[in-house]
Amino acid sequence: MEIISKILLLTLTMAVAAICTTNSEQSARIVCYFTDWSIYRPGLGRYASENIPAELCTHLIYSFVGVNDTDWSVLVLDSEVDVKQNGFRNFTQLKEKNANLKVEVSIGGWGEGGAKYSELVSLAERRQSFINSVVEFLNEYGFDGLDLDWEYPGATDRDGTAADKENFVSLVQELRTAFDAEGKGWELTMAVPVTQSRLQDGYNVPVLCELLDAVHTLTYDLHGAWDGFADVHSPLYKRDFETAAYAKLNVHDALALWEDSGCPANKLVVGVPFYGRSFTLSASNHNYSLGTTITGAGNAGAYTQEAGFLAYYEICTQVQNASLGWTVEWDDEGKVPYAYKDTQWVGYENEKSVQIKMDFIKEKGYAGAMTWVIDLDDFRGLCGQKNALLNLFYSNLHNYKVPEPTTSA
Ligand SMILES: *[C@@H]1O[C@H](CO)[C@@H](O)[C@H](O)[C@H]1NC(C)=O
Ligand SMILES: *[C@@H]1O[C@H](CO)[C@@H](O)[C@H](O)[C@H]1NC(C)=O
Ligand SMILES: *[C@@H]1O[C@H](CO)[C@@H](O)[C@H](O)[C@H]1NC(C)=O
Ligand SMILES: *[C@@H]1O[C@H](CO)[C@@H](O)[C@H](O)[C@H]1NC(C)=O
Repeated sequence: MEIISKILLLTLTMAVAAICTTNSEQSARIVCYFTDWSIYRPGLGRYASENIPAELCTHLIYSFVGVNDTDWSVLVLDSEVDVKQNGFRNFTQLKEKNANLKVEVSIGGWGEGGAKYSELVSLAERRQSFINSVVEFLNEYGFDGLDLDWEYPGATDRDGTAADKENFVSLVQELRTAFDAEGKGWELTMAVPVTQSRLQDGYNVPVLCELLDAVHTLTYDLHGAWDGFADVHSPLYKRDFETAAYAKLNVHDALALWEDSGCPANKLVVGVPFYGRSFTLSASNHNYSLGTTITGAGNAGAYTQEAGFLAYYEICTQVQNASLGWTVEWDDEGKVPYAYKDTQWVGYENEKSVQIKMDFIKEKGYAGAMTWVIDLDDFRGLCGQKNALLNLFYSNLHNYKVPEPTTSA
């Protein structure tokens, strides 16, 4: 009898110890977004689940599904690839390659617009239909969570309304309750904007951060052809030449904004783009400085085929080949590279800038790194090591333990 109670006590003590260790030892997140449309890229650009280095990520996120605004269910956006060709199932089966991997699906994205999401959250019955559908969907395909990517609650320029802010909290609360009730450890995460006005209009930051497992900051596309000048799109720090409107559009200040708004550092995952934003200059413009005048977006890449946008592998294969005549420069304040040749100019991330961002994450005690997206890394090793940028995430973060936040919100 005494032995049994001693064993019980010992077991209890070990269980308590285990819980305490888990609390103080939060593993870093390596969040890998994947886009289902990368399967359509020609030749070497084609990318599908079989190309995903599942062992390098802690979280994989399938992008995107949408919302059906008739019955408020999950809407499959490419049923041919996602369902008929087994896109969802191939993706969730990657857990067989990495037992600790969490596999999520992302809902929303820029192309879905904001109107449907605003209408969805506005009525309790719609939210309930939607949540039931999400639970059914995650169970059907074996996903471990949902990533909310409504761009953006409360954004009137995206068909949102002022009521979105409170209604969105209701949706997140109800999703959290439903997920916890399933008892499968499902995660609820969110991709978020990084400007003061977007946060004010649509995000109750302290409440959301409490409810969510992690927050993925959209710390890229901070500049692009829409600005009317050439610039890098994911500078780490403010640059001297920046004035009022652009002054806070950098990774450091974006994360500080989320923290200052009441989100603990150990919930914040820093977004890093594996692509560049490109520009076209007039033929007579030989000023290649940051901020130089442009005529529009840069030429489309051979694989990604979108003006103003180039995969890391489309950039590194160009700039590393001396016979092609590119000049590579470094934004010493923003801590990111840019390159130019003739009328073309591109700002991007390379191994050096990614390493600096990894150091920043660890120094600040953030929860980890996220990339948009793994299918734009040098996944075939055209410039050197396969998945060179993602490997830097892994080597820097796989042993990094996220500290308890020191500053309280
Ligand atoms: C949305 O749901 C309705 C009702 O179930 C269905 O008839 C319709 O086809 C769905 N819309 C899309 C785009 O799948
Ligand atoms: C899923 O995997 C199967 C078997 O490897 C493959 O034939 C199919 O093309 C894959 N589908 C997608 C969308 O990746
Ligand atoms: C080049 O462009 C930058 C950004 O507009 C500007 O500050 C700089 O003065 C220009 N340099 C020359 C030599 O015109
Ligand atoms: C460099 O570019 C030239 C011209 O396109 C090409 O023939 C050559 O194969 C490239 N070299 C490498 C190492 O990719």
